[in-house]
Amino acid sequence: MLFQSIKGVSDILPGEVWMWQAVEADARGLFGRFGFREIRTPIFEQTELFTRSIGQTTDIVKKEMYNLVDKKGRSLTLRPEGTAPVIRAYIEHKGALPAQVSKLYYTGPMFRYERPQGGRSRQFHQIGTEIIGGNSPCYDAESINVAYLFFKEIGLGDVVIEINSVGCPECRPRYGEALQSHIRKDLDKYCPDCKERFDRNILRVLDCKVPGDIALLAGAPLVTDHICEHCSDHFSKVKDTLDSLGVPYRLNPKLVRGLDYYTRTVFELRHNALGALDAIGAGGRYDNLTAELGGEPKGAVGFAVGMERIILALKARSAIAEKEFNLDLFMVSIGDAAFKENVALLNSLRTAGFGGDMDYEAKSIKAQMRQADAHKARFALIRGDDELKAGIVTAKDLKAGCEEKVNVGSLAEWLKSKGC
Ligand code: HAM
Repeated sequence: MLFQSIKGVSDILPGEVWMWQAVEADARGLFGRFGFREIRTPIFEQTELFTRSIGQTTDIVKKEMYNLVDKKGRSLTLRPEGTAPVIRAYIEHKGALPAQVSKLYYTGPMFRYERPQGGRSRQFHQIGTEIIGGNSPCYDAESINVAYLFFKEIGLGDVVIEINSVGCPECRPRYGEALQSHIRKDLDKYCPDCKERFDRNILRVLDCKVPGDIALLAGAPLVTDHICEHCSDHFSKVKDTLDSLGVPYRLNPKLVRGLDYYTRTVFELRHNALGALDAIGAGGRYDNLTAELGGEPKGAVGFAVGMERIILALKARSAIAEKEFNLDLFMVSIGDAAFKENVALLNSLRTAGFGGDMDYEAKSIKAQMRQADAHKARFALIRGDDELKAGIVTAKDLKAGCEEKVNVGSLAEWLKSKGC
């Protein structure tokens, strides 16, 4: 093979694309009912947009970004996530988004240089929502609820939702100190990554997957015991609202996120088809990001789900059924005269709204029937000289195997009567 796709970057073939389309259609329908509108941002941005928002010391910024320099020497980055670009666009086009609270959603490819393995790739796709301009804890609950209902709608209602509060810039440093003093006494026993995190991003130690470190952290202070009264009150209201909406959740006081912009509520959604390590979706509140990126301060909350992981979970579940038929009909021609007439008949049926195709390469009837099957057509419409003379087609139902003669003049009506 002369060329192959790049490691960690996959083609999505037609046999799978239909699943993506079904999931995306469900997302669009649901988000629309909650008042979200779609936004499409470019796949690359100024590098500084991401270093400022995601955080200089995070794994994404330190190790995973695809950076490039353009012809004028400007540093650009393929977007590793969707929130920062959406906030950049919100600030830039605020006049075009007049609502007090802007609700936006997006879908598209993201890029992170991670070690590729099942459910983790270098180009992956997210569907995400952002609610910008709302401080009420009801928005946090709504965001979690939308994520929950989305998974329910696509057939993965058994996702586990974990929530936590990481406090605000006032109370979080106090918690950081408490955590440091717990860890300091055994610091030499922690893994090298955690030793580094100890100084640069202490909360990320809680995310360590090394069994020895998990054991050392068993008695560590919990963030929810250290957050300020405002953050604690906010978190209680989020939980109350989730209870009244009937959204199931688990409290995970060790849940911290790999992006620095979060304040207060954070959440992750997991699905058992993916194993313990990877989340199928995640999000949280990020009240300081608009100001950090040069806009007016605005409370905001959102989440993103990973499409590749969703498809893996759906496949493990066989949760969505493939459309039985791709096409309504496939024209089969016997002889040159019928072929010529069929080209025109197919065109008029397509124009009338039916899905159809035919073979232009003058193959045998058998080969044409094989094509009809490969295209997953519902009917093979067969015409030879006899049919032409009689003004009919022989319509073969490719599932049931039975045949019927149908007048060409009433073919469209007949197809409609069959549900095409
Ligand atoms: P995140 O946790 O970095 O959050 O990513 C969200 C989801 O994207 C993950 O739960 C996962 O399903 C998927 N994902 C992330 N990295 C990969 C990868 N390398 N391969 C496959 N899937 C992946 C964010 O990106 C935030 N912007 C979410 C957010 C929106 N927070 C507020 N608003």
